[in-house]
Amino acid sequence: MTPVATGFAMGTEFAIHTEGLTKRFGSQLAVDGVDLRVPVGSVFGFLGPNGSGKTTTIRLLLGLASATSGQIEVLGKRIPEDLRMVLPEVGALVEGPGFYPYLSGAANLHRLDTADGHATSATRRVRVQTALERVGLSHAAGKKVKAYSLGMKQRLGIANALLTPRRLLVLDEPTNGLDPQGTREVRSLIRSLAAEGTTVFVSSHLLAEIEQVCTDAAVMSVGRLVAQGTIAELRGVGGARVRLESPDRDLAIAVFSRFGMTVAEPGADATELIAAFGEKEPDPEVMVAALVDARVRVRSFTVDRPSLEQRFVDLTGEGFDVAG
Ligand SMILES: Nc1ncnc2c1ncn2[C@@H]1O[C@H](COP(=O)(O)OP(=O)(O)O)[C@@H](O)[C@H]1O
Ligand SMILES: [Mg+2]
Repeated sequence: MTPVATGFAMGTEFAIHTEGLTKRFGSQLAVDGVDLRVPVGSVFGFLGPNGSGKTTTIRLLLGLASATSGQIEVLGKRIPEDLRMVLPEVGALVEGPGFYPYLSGAANLHRLDTADGHATSATRRVRVQTALERVGLSHAAGKKVKAYSLGMKQRLGIANALLTPRRLLVLDEPTNGLDPQGTREVRSLIRSLAAEGTTVFVSSHLLAEIEQVCTDAAVMSVGRLVAQGTIAELRGVGGARVRLESPDRDLAIAVFSRFGMTVAEPGADATELIAAFGEKEPDPEVMVAALVDARVRVRSFTVDRPSLEQRFVDLTGEGFDVAG
């Protein structure tokens, strides 16, 4: 047996750190040996198709469900042992926050803030107003929640997570039910929170919706973590190719070889050249200048990168459905 403390020090640079995290429902492993490492200050995309175990993992992180086995640290504290210590610093939106339909959005937030034993009542009114403003719901503050659209309810859930300043925000599919405009607003909200230093852990089954805001990501597939790292790492280093269209093929190959590049694939015809990078990836402007210097007639020049989408399809064996 490995001692509990090995490789799992308190107070690390991770906002969320799990080891061997496992949750079993009957015979089904919903979460299967997950080792998550979420750097402090990151916007961390927790990606995976529906049913891959994202919500279950999030419920374990927040102490809403107990793990079958494995360890969890959130903001350097053990979960579930130190849950009471960390909860005030963690804002969360997990599937379907329970709102009272016959109360207004503002009244619901007042209730939830009152229920939070750590929130001071003196500043409640202002904090509720500010949170509603941040998610663009000021105009609907007095409206009954039963008249809210799904997107408005989702934003009210995010406002609830923002009632007090947080070091960590955990958002489970925050763009669910939002139209493209609402989705853009959530993205820009995430950006501004990250700029203030909040670590944001955000799950989605739609890669494209959060790819642009994430600094890091992890990919779940059937309960297992199949990849994690910075977005650049996940895209795969060295996967980029230069695609050149020129009648001066041999001259161009000579220039590329000076940059340590090699011909990767035959082009579509005699004027197309596809070259792969060696150890370094020089700036495109430097390569184009060198080609022109060598009197290569450049008709077109592009740097192709494998898309994250393609990587994730490879990793999960299925696409991230566009329609949701
Ligand atoms: N309370 C539960 N009881 C039984 N099975 C569950 C429960 N919650 C989730 N599951 C199952 O665990 C798997 C992962 O679900 P979930 O974590 O909700 O995935 P995701 O959030 O990625 O869509 C699914 O197969 C789901 O049916
Ligand atoms: Mg889910």
